[in-house]
Amino acid sequence: MKKGKVDALLGIVFGDEGKGKVVDVFTPKYDIVARFAGGPNAGHTIIFEGKKFVLRSIPSGIFAEDKVNIIGNGCVIAPDLFTAEAKELETAGYNLRSRLHISKRAHLILPTHRVLDRAYEAAKGKNKVGTTGKGIGPTYSEKASRTGLRVGDILEGFEEKYAKLKARHEEILRNLNYTDYDITEEERLWMEGVAYMRTFPLVDTEIEINKALLEGKNVLAEGAQGTMLDIDHGTYPFVSSSNTVCGGVCTGLGVAPNSIGEVFGIFKAYSTRVGAGPFPVELFDETGDKIREIGHEYGAVTGRNRRCGWVDLVALRYAIMINGVTQLIMMKSDVLDTFPTIKACVAYEKDGQQTTDMPFDTEGWQAIYEELPGWQADLTKITSEAEFPEAFRNYVAYLERKLETPITILSVGPDRAQTIVR
Ligand code: GDP
Ligand code: IMO
Ligand code: MG
Repeated sequence: MKKGKVDALLGIVFGDEGKGKVVDVFTPKYDIVARFAGGPNAGHTIIFEGKKFVLRSIPSGIFAEDKVNIIGNGCVIAPDLFTAEAKELETAGYNLRSRLHISKRAHLILPTHRVLDRAYEAAKGKNKVGTTGKGIGPTYSEKASRTGLRVGDILEGFEEKYAKLKARHEEILRNLNYTDYDITEEERLWMEGVAYMRTFPLVDTEIEINKALLEGKNVLAEGAQGTMLDIDHGTYPFVSSSNTVCGGVCTGLGVAPNSIGEVFGIFKAYSTRVGAGPFPVELFDETGDKIREIGHEYGAVTGRNRRCGWVDLVALRYAIMINGVTQLIMMKSDVLDTFPTIKACVAYEKDGQQTTDMPFDTEGWQAIYEELPGWQADLTKITSEAEFPEAFRNYVAYLERKLETPITILSVGPDRAQTIVR
């Protein structure tokens, strides 16, 4: 039998590109949907049949009743938040128990990891990362320093391991003079969450996935965050703490590089960023405000304003290279419906020097733009490619030319149905 493939669906800019929506649309074509990185810092929105869900740790393939969804070893998981998320789905009528599998190797986010996240941010003063406050950085740090706790640890002798790690965190917090916190209630819910998690299949997901591939089954790896937030390739130190790029699929699920099939790179028709850090295309004017308002660009997890700007071809070309993107997916095209002109950043400039390659440090670079006519028409009701206005077609063709990669899906609204496959 022909071996199955792992297709990757990756945010290729600063996150919030619309990964949740497309994973949900793609799920019928796959046997397994698996998250390989990140944790509850993610917020993936899915809208269909008048319903809206925002998923944080649970893969976006969960709405198709017959599919297995996996939280892979590369993820970090907070039992209390996981429980709240899962119970919301159960209340909405989705049966999760048998088809949501959690890797024993995924790391646990403790309540004190979240306190540490806040404490480290506070200590950074003006150089705050602007994290989601979900304990992501401290948990991944501890994974690397080999002191963390994993999901499999909740199966045996957990109380002792937990108490030991918590005591270690309390000591760090005392040393940081960060003692004004109270996690009593949080900890109670967290422990309830641990008990609830024990009722799910906690498995060696890397073995499960590889066996499925041998049986010819296909897997969709759902990215979290985006390439510019990757710990290695993003705008360090203003990044998240995991490998969000395609290489992260291999380490975060335990699959070999030669099992990767298509690599779908998702971006918006414009750019956004939430949190601190360099963002050369950021608009501080009415145009930026207009994009934010029409695009509802407020964080799904934290409610913060997302910073907005035009599409960044320097960042996109870099991400396509790093991930080996084979197909592009452009989201939120409809948000630009009313703009008379559209711009695209083609290079960065600093001190009279221009570059089209992503620099080591994107701080202080100015965006150089090319301008195109807008389409000034409503895209949201369009159901087939033939209906697209000419100026929109030209924008898509322009991007494909500049990025040397086909754009195979165009999204024209938040609903599952507002998706045009070319
Ligand atoms: P993710 O983190 O990549 O899954 O993306 P988010 O869910 O954080 O943010 C994407 C937002 O855009 C959500 O509110 C979606 O409902 C919405 N959305 C997705 N695709 C489209 C689209 O084509 N048009 C519009 N207007 N909204 C979209
Ligand atoms: P999804 O999967 C957008 C950003 C935070 C912050 C930085 C580090 O929904 O696209 P962290 O809490 O991870 O230590 O924060 O990364 N960030 C995201 N921005 N979308 C996300 O996820 C993000 N996850 C983290 O705002 O700047
Ligand atoms: Mg999001």
